[in-house]
Amino acid sequence: MKNIAVIYWSATGNTEAMALAIAEGAKREGISIRLFEVGNASVEDVLKADAVALGCPSMGAEELEEEEMEPFVSFLENEDLKSKPMVLFGSYDWGDGQWMREWEERMTKLGVYLVEDGLIIQNTPDEAGIKKCNELGAKLANL
Ligand SMILES: Cc1cc2nc3c(=O)[nH]c(=O)nc-3n(C[C@H](O)[C@H](O)[C@H](O)COP(=O)(O)O)c2cc1C
Repeated sequence: MKNIAVIYWSATGNTEAMALAIAEGAKREGISIRLFEVGNASVEDVLKADAVALGCPSMGAEELEEEEMEPFVSFLENEDLKSKPMVLFGSYDWGDGQWMREWEERMTKLGVYLVEDGLIIQNTPDEAGIKKCNELGAKLANL
């Protein structure tokens, strides 16, 4: 059985809704995803996964959330993640996605295989947004 991890941070539930919809999309393909809030995840969970989805909203001024997600991503930068299949996702509000572009750049520098461009959704995902998340989950399940 494939080992797929979805690890996210969310304050008001928007990125969490995306994470749940990604997991649901994979489940419909017969693959169960291990879902973690980042505070409950370890770097090991990323290393041993066949594919990983990492989620965080835009916080600060176009930044990753600084207490949990930023340190987690910094830890990942000390690991060998070459060719690790990964997708990034998160919710935002007034920005233009700068936090996601910078996050993608950091992951790309590590040699991570970004399966798709980061999925960003403004505020709460609507039906179309949930569908995109489901499709992303299905894509991870079928890699
Ligand atoms: C402290 C704080 C900083 C934020 N900074 C940004 C920002 O720089 N750019 C942006 O587009 N949205 C920003 N937002 C909006 C959040 O990204 C948005 O509300 C998102 O839906 C929250 O996701 P969550 O429900 O998963 O916590 C900020 C929100 C807060 C509370």
